[in-house]
Parts: sequence; structure tokens; C-alpha cells
Amino acid sequence: RTLRLIGAPTDIGASTRGAGMGPDALRVAGLANTLAGLGFEVVDGGNLAGPGTPWEVPAEGLHHLPEVIAWNRLVHDAVDQALEAGQLPVLLGGDHCIAVGSISAIARHVRQRRQKLRVLWLDAHTDVNTETTSPSGNMHGMPVSCLLGHGPAALTGWSGEPAALAHDAIRFLGIRSVDAEEKSAIRSLGLGVFDMRHIDEHGMRTTMTEALQDVDDDTHLHVSFDLDCLDPDYAPGVGTGVRGGPTWREMQLCMEMIADTGRLGSLDVVELNPALDVRNRTAEIAVELIESLFGKSTLVR
Ligand code: ARG
Ligand code: MN
Ligand code: MN
Ligand code: MN
Repeated sequence: RTLRLIGAPTDIGASTRGAGMGPDALRVAGLANTLAGLGFEVVDGGNLAGPGTPWEVPAEGLHHLPEVIAWNRLVHDAVDQALEAGQLPVLLGGDHCIAVGSISAIARHVRQRRQKLRVLWLDAHTDVNTETTSPSGNMHGMPVSCLLGHGPAALTGWSGEPAALAHDAIRFLGIRSVDAEEKSAIRSLGLGVFDMRHIDEHGMRTTMTEALQDVDDDTHLHVSFDLDCLDPDYAPGVGTGVRGGPTWREMQLCMEMIADTGRLGSLDVVELNPALDVRNRTAEIAVELIESLFGKSTLVR
């Protein structure tokens, strides 16, 4: 299987600058060689060239909407091309707003092939704000709404259907920061959220068994991995870190259990902010976790 690395060097949807350096920090941490070492053919398609970050104040509740659209257009087309070529897209962010383009392309592809799509959203946040509920206007807090068909009109419907995702096609893991109005949205939309309390009470193994329930041979599994899912003690290089996340070991098990399904079809790695990192530690941990996600095992060759 061929993996295609797609760099989206932007912080356009974030609250802090710096995530635009994420793709290169992952390259410096050895992502391509690590994946090649597992036996994959790895093609690094380089970085997409989108607009810069003007750093203006939000207009009508949305921060940098035209630039967010432009970046997502590029991401959508690059992910679509990779899928059409039979490659497994690995999107290197960049902040989490780019999941709109990536998952919209994936949803259309999966629908055309009459497969089932399951998204695992590994994150401290649920990112289900809209322009009316967001306390910040930052679009990295809104991609899930866009994908469910409830976001800003310019960013919804990209998959060819009003909603790229059905409410029951996504599972959230590691959640511990949810804005007041996001709580109502989670409830009214009926979203499957495994928050930190759930992981505390049931452990990562049981939680992942639940999150992966009904994943079968017809399922395309997409992982949207926001590095702030990890506890910031392990992953300090993120713009919106929240204490009390999964440890490195718990996250390893999460990745290993996803790998065991054999259904991983696409991946976003987002929110890495090298400007806030400590000697590229967060990028290195991300590469180790991605290695497990693609099937690294301690004992099996
Ligand atoms: N809930 C906050 C907001 O909407 C933070 C979102 C953080 N999102 C992220 N992808 N890091 O502004
Ligand atoms: Mn297509
Ligand atoms: Mn987050
Ligand atoms: Mn996120």
C-alpha cells in the first residue's frame, strides 16, 4: 500500500500562530522513513501552497473565512487525488480546520465505493462550534459542524451531500474541553463522545472496543488526530493544550487497537505547533504513535 504525505502548512483556523510549521516538524522527526520502515511505499507530495495568515479580527463570528475556504479547497483536492490514485492520504497539518476538506473528499470517495465511513476524532475538544456558538470565532473549533452539515454555509456540502457525515459515523475520544453550547449540540445531535471520565472509569481498552464497535470489512476508518488529545505533559507543542489527557501509553494502546482492525483508510495529523514545542518532542511522539497506528508491534515482525 502506498501512503501519500500531504503537507498543509497553515495556522489559519487556530488561536495561536505556529501550526504552519507542523508538516516540516513531522518530516524532521522522521515520519516518512519510519513509515517506510514498516514496509509501506511512502510518497511525500510536499506542501500545499495556500494563503498566508493575515491575523485579522473575526468578521461575523468567523476568523479568516476566505483563507480557511482556500486552504480547504487545496486539501480537498489533494486528498481526493490521493484516493483516486489508490493511495492512503496522510494529511499533515496545520490546524484542525483542514479536516473539512479532507473528510469531505473521503466521504464522497467512500460513498461512491459503497463503503461505510467511520471517523475517530482524537482530541481534547469536540470542535462542534458554529459561527453563532463559537466563543472565539476560530475555525479549528468548527470542522465537525461543517461536516455534519451545520457549519458556515461556505464550508458545508463539499462531499456532494448536505452532510459529509451522519451523526453516528463519528466517535470522539479523549474529550475534556467542551464549550457550553457545544454541550447542547452534542446532546441534540446525538454524538458518540468518549470523554476523559469515560476513559478513567472504563480504561482505554474497553473504550476503544466500544469506539470500534461495528467496524467491519466494508468500513473505511478515518482517524483525525489532534495532538492536543494527548496530555500536554507528553505533547507540549500544541496551541490549545488542556491538562488531564491520555498518557503516552494509553495513546499507544488506542493506536494499536485501531491498527488491529486493518481498516485504516486515511489520517489527519493536526495542531502540532513547533513554536510551542520542546526540542521537537511532540513531533517525535506523534511519529511514534503514527507508527503504531500503521501496525508497528513490539513482538510481531
Ligand atoms: N472550543 C474552543 C473554540 O472553539 C477551542 C477549539 C480548539 N480546537 C482545536 N482543534 N484545537 O475556540
Ligand atoms: Mn473521488
Ligand atoms: Mn483540540
Ligand atoms: Mn481539534
